Amino acid sequence: MAGTQIRIAIFGANGGTGRLLTERCLAQGRQVTVLLRTPETFPFRDRVRVVEGNAFDSVAIEETLVGADAVFSALGAKSLKREDVLERAVPLIVRAMEVRGPKRLIALGSAGALPSSLDKQPAWRRWIVQNIVYNTFLKWPVASQISQWQTLSHSGLDWTMVMPPMLTNGAERGSYRVDGEALPRNSSRIARADVADFMMAQLGEVRWVRKGVYIGW
Ligand SMILES: NC(=O)c1ccc[n+]([C@@H]2O[C@H](COP(=O)([O-])OP(=O)(O)OC[C@H]3O[C@@H](n4cnc5c(N)ncnc54)[C@H](OP(=O)(O)O)[C@@H]3O)[C@@H](O)[C@H]2O)c1
Repeated sequence: MAGTQIRIAIFGANGGTGRLLTERCLAQGRQVTVLLRTPETFPFRDRVRVVEGNAFDSVAIEETLVGADAVFSALGAKSLKREDVLERAVPLIVRAMEVRGPKRLIALGSAGALPSSLDKQPAWRRWIVQNIVYNTFLKWPVASQISQWQTLSHSGLDWTMVMPPMLTNGAERGSYRVDGEALPRNSSRIARADVADFMMAQLGEVRWVRKGVYIGW
């Protein structure tokens, strides 16, 4: 799928990772459509096709997908409270893509979506995260990622769910560990910039199609 003619739709384009994805798509000369709730706050609004609307609205989603060859989702909640963003938006995006295309969806998820996510961590760390962190302040984000995983893995799309640990706004390192089974041992963070680079690379990569993939420093 390499080539500048590939047209991209992005959900969550105005977020931390979404802006980096948009920037990279434009740098590669791609045509980009974004779904935005507040277009006036989006720094690339004059260089993309903007659909103003909400990811809980299937009509707005369908309008965003028109003409797209591949789709990025970097949607997420604004807080750690229960917001159900992925629970509500991802099934609508998947359904629209199954009916109208395109088939390729590269979605930002999170380590923690699967019971095996932490299998390569030291036992003490796995215990603390699974028994304390995931039951307290990450309770709702983890529930959202489990939901996203279930929606994608039951879909008919060529999906990839990219699953990092904590995201930072630091500079990209250009190198990180990738694992199809579980989060790499002792990996606890990665820059959004490295995640965006990895997601961009998936446009021309079939290795992680219909799979989840963990990435971390
Ligand atoms: N933070 C972490 O450490 C971490 C770690 C691992 C994985 N993740 C996952 O990474 C994902 C993205 O993280 P991020 O920090 O890059 O994103 P972010 O800055 O929180 O941005 C999320 C984007 O989703 C958009 N959005 C939310 N609800 C929407 C709706 N109903 N309709 C349209 N757009 C909507 C927001 O739009 P507005 O601009 O209009 O608000 C925003 O642009 C999340 O799913 C998160 O779970 C995060």
